Amino acid sequence: MVLENKVALVTGASRGIGRQIAISLAKEGAQVIVNYNGSAAKAEEVVNLITEAGGRAEAVQCNVSEYDKAEELMKYIIGKYGRVDILVNNAGITRDNLLMKMTEEEFDAVIDINLKGTFNCIKHLSRQMLKQKGGRIINISSVSGVMGNAGQANYCASKAGVIGLTKSVARELASRGITCNAVAPGFIETEMTDVLADSVKEAMNAQIPMKCFGNTEDIAGTVVFLASDAARYITGQVINVDGGMAM
Ligand SMILES: NC(=O)c1ccc[n+]([C@@H]2O[C@H](COP(=O)([O-])OP(=O)(O)OC[C@H]3O[C@@H](n4cnc5c(N)ncnc54)[C@H](OP(=O)(O)O)[C@@H]3O)[C@@H](O)[C@H]2O)c1
Repeated sequence: MVLENKVALVTGASRGIGRQIAISLAKEGAQVIVNYNGSAAKAEEVVNLITEAGGRAEAVQCNVSEYDKAEELMKYIIGKYGRVDILVNNAGITRDNLLMKMTEEEFDAVIDINLKGTFNCIKHLSRQMLKQKGGRIINISSVSGVMGNAGQANYCASKAGVIGLTKSVARELASRGITCNAVAPGFIETEMTDVLADSVKEAMNAQIPMKCFGNTEDIAGTVVFLASDAARYITGQVINVDGGMAM
């Protein structure tokens, strides 16, 4: 087990990619805080899966887009566990629309959760990681943030913002033993992509050199690697896990 005695926080871990990241980190020995916003029962399910397999996990509610609530979340975790070694900023939403039709609310909601939520969690944990003289920050961006995507101006702006944030944080904290990297998933089978029409999925598939969607384990495996000692000397990078879409 490569993450024994590590404490990990995964935001948005009640479903999809975050759920699998939480399970995979716990499998490697980490104590995992399974953050969720509205899906309490699903977050408890993740905790049960982990504990039944012999791992350690706790579900904690927090809307990460709220600056003060994110601070309370960090205070709670540090008060209880004394440290946070791994922060995975995974919580994210889409509110797709063509630019001409996109409302201010659709733009703001996506930026608030995807970008500001990531900032809030890093900001409120950075002092603790500096004290620890170590930590791993892993931000979930998207191929859409790397390449852009019609109908997703808000989402692409948020995910490109996450990449800029990642590189700046990496530069600021590198000398203190803290790494900060981004993972940019391509199209992954989750509830976020389940809602797409078959015709849209087919069009997406056509853009993927490997001709298939990825699964949540593909992303979780990359996160485990970035959290492990094997990735000690990697910071400020964007790892595309997308079947070859962005290259
Ligand atoms: N699926 C893909 O193809 C794909 C591709 C590229 C990037 N991504 C990125 O990967 C991440 C996970 O995506 P997914 O497909 O797993 O999404 P998902 O199945 O829709 O799950 C989203 C998760 O985020 C949580 N969340 C939403 N708003 C939150 C908030 N304000 N505070 C805390 N948690 C919040 C949800 O919790 P509740 O249910 O409790 O609200 C849920 O656990 C996102 O950042 C997404 O942008 C996904």
